[in-house]
Amino acid sequence: MEVNLLRYMKFLRDFNFKDKKVLIRVDFNVPLGDDLKVDNSEDWRIEATLPSIKYLLDQGAKIILLAHLGRPNGKIVEGLRLDPVAKRLGELLGRKVIKLDDCCSQKVKDRVSQIKVGEIILLENLRFYPEEKNNDRQFAKQLASYGEIYVNDAFGVDHRAHASLVGIPKYLPSCAGLLLEKEITALTKVLDKPERPLVVIIGGVKISTKIKVIKKFLKKADNVLLGGALANTVLAAKGIAIGQSVVEEGMIEEVKKLELTDIKLHLPVDAITSTDPLGKSDIRIAPIGNTNKEEMILDIGPDTNNLFRQIISQSKAIIWNGPMGLIEVDKFVEGTKKIAQVIANNDSYSVIGGGDSIALIEEMGLFDKMSHVSTGGGAMLKFLAGDKLPGIEALG
Ligand code: 3PG
Repeated sequence: MEVNLLRYMKFLRDFNFKDKKVLIRVDFNVPLGDDLKVDNSEDWRIEATLPSIKYLLDQGAKIILLAHLGRPNGKIVEGLRLDPVAKRLGELLGRKVIKLDDCCSQKVKDRVSQIKVGEIILLENLRFYPEEKNNDRQFAKQLASYGEIYVNDAFGVDHRAHASLVGIPKYLPSCAGLLLEKEITALTKVLDKPERPLVVIIGGVKISTKIKVIKKFLKKADNVLLGGALANTVLAAKGIAIGQSVVEEGMIEEVKKLELTDIKLHLPVDAITSTDPLGKSDIRIAPIGNTNKEEMILDIGPDTNNLFRQIISQSKAIIWNGPMGLIEVDKFVEGTKKIAQVIANNDSYSVIGGGDSIALIEEMGLFDKMSHVSTGGGAMLKFLAGDKLPGIEALG
């Protein structure tokens, strides 16, 4: 399916954008600080869309951006307005971004109809409208009426069948933007023809959101390394004591169906444990199986780190999604940092996804050392699991 995607889709190079009103759906879902500003270290999703925007400006297009922020559940939430995003985008582009305060009013229709070549308009958070999530036909038609060509450059949200993603392409000539093209190319490369050995490193909290990918790569990859709280659920399924560690009880039976003795599957062999996840009590290194009743597993231990690093350094292709421990707390970030460092030091093809891991590599200054940093969290996992992404399918 993935190879076909690139064959049947249209791309920016297939259109003439001169003087055209171009609707671009982007994923600007970035965390805002307490001051409601976009922190410079958290703006990588905005930066990732600059190539398409600049290309379209160079082509003489009139640009109307569509985006969402957070999950306001179809209501106006003042703290989720897109003004800080427009400001940051303007700073990155070095030009004015005109932010409008809604998506459907007469004022919006009038302003958009008068857009000039070189102008960039950003409409308000699409998710203030329940119609966006419900994939409402009228809403999609209304949005489509603002443009002449639709560009999907929003890989991070392409797993949602929302109006701005699957509705608009029904009414306009449509194509993938440069970011979406890059994401599909990079992910297809590790999925279809990875160099060998291929290692897949999966961390984070919920095994329920990642089990499909784990299953898939137990078949496809040479090694699968599990860390983070989701590894606890696998340890529990194996009957290993994990004390008070975070676990998804409801997933234990499902996890038992995995080939848990597969030699490709590598679980932590030791851990950093403590009775306090905030890191205020003592920590210790405990071999797996040796966690006290009152303790929690909060990071991978040094032996696990050595094992994982050895496997990673011998790999020619690497996929990584999700941290190895509770990285929000300094005492439990080391395991993940060391994994990030070994990936960065390796010359192999590396694909990284998931907001937490990406924020960490950005903080460590390793962003540019990775071959591809995906803007998709859930979308990347679904793509790699072989699921069809509605936003991408709609471009066919
Ligand atoms: C993301 O942040 O992963 C995307 O923007 C999708 O957001 P959602 O999970 O709220 O749909």
